[in-house]
Amino acid sequence: MSYLEIKSLSSFYGKAEALSNVSLSVEKGEIIAIVGANGAGKSTLLDSIMGMVKQKGTISFDDKTISGKSTSHIVKQGIGYAPERFSLFPYMSVKDNLLVGAFTAREKTKDNLAQVYSLFPRLAERETQETATQSGGERQMVSLGRALMSSPKLLLVDEPTIGLAPKVCNEIAVSLRRMRDDFGLTVVITEQNANFAMTLAERIYVLEAGKMQIEGTVEELKSDNRLIEAYFGT
Ligand SMILES: Nc1ncnc2c1ncn2[C@@H]1O[C@H](COP(=O)(O)OP(=O)(O)OP(=O)(O)O)[C@@H](O)[C@H]1O
Ligand SMILES: [Mg+2]
Repeated sequence: MSYLEIKSLSSFYGKAEALSNVSLSVEKGEIIAIVGANGAGKSTLLDSIMGMVKQKGTISFDDKTISGKSTSHIVKQGIGYAPERFSLFPYMSVKDNLLVGAFTAREKTKDNLAQVYSLFPRLAERETQETATQSGGERQMVSLGRALMSSPKLLLVDEPTIGLAPKVCNEIAVSLRRMRDDFGLTVVITEQNANFAMTLAERIYVLEAGKMQIEGTVEELKSDNRLIEAYFGT
C-alpha cells in the first residue's frame, strides 16, 4: 500500500459533486503536484484528505484508514495542511500564528519552532510582527511554518505560489525541497502554475472539472507534446 492512498474519492457540497471518482497514490518521500485550473477541485481534494468535506471512497495514510475520521484525528496521524489564502490571524504576531499550529504537538513546540526558524530565518527576525503587515511571501512562510508546528510526516500545501513574484516562488520551492531532503517530509502541493509544479515535483496529477485526467512523472509529461500544449502552454 502507498503512503497516502486515495481510492475512488467523490466529494460533495450539498448535492453538487465537486470531485468524481478520484484516485491518487503518494509514496513516502515523494514531492507530488496536483495541477488544475480555477474550480478544478484542488482545494476540495486537500480539504477532503483533511476530512473537511462530505465524501465517498477511501483514503488511507501510513497504513491506516483516515476517511471518515475527524480533522483533529487526521492531524494527529501526521498530516499538516497549509490551506489556500493562508487563513492566518491578521492581528496576531508571527510567533502566535505559528503557535496556533502546535496544539496537537505541544511537547515539541520548542524544537518545531527552531525548525521553522531555521527554514525561514526571516520569520525569526520578524517574530513579533503582525501578519497583517507582512508581504504575501512572508505570509506564505508563516502558513507553511504553522503547518510544520504539528510535527507532520506528510505536508499538504494548497497553491504555494499564488500571487507571489518569481523570486519568492523560488524561495518557497527551496524551502519545500528542504522539508523533504532535510526533514524527511512527504509533500503534496496543488498548483495552477504548471511550470512551477514541473520544477519542484517528481510526479504530477492533472485535475480537470473534478476528474483526474493524467498522471505521470515530469519526464513523461515533458515528452508528450500534445499534452504540453493542452495543459501547460508552450
Ligand atoms: N464551500 C463550497 N460550497 C459549494 N461549492 C463549492 C464550495 N467550495 C468549492 N465549491 C465548488 O467546488 C468546485 C471545486 O472548487 P475548488 O475550490 O476545490 O477548486 P480549486 O481547483 O481549488 O480552484 P481555485 O484554483 O480557484 O482555488 C467548484 O465548482 C466550486 O464552485
Ligand atoms: Mg483552490
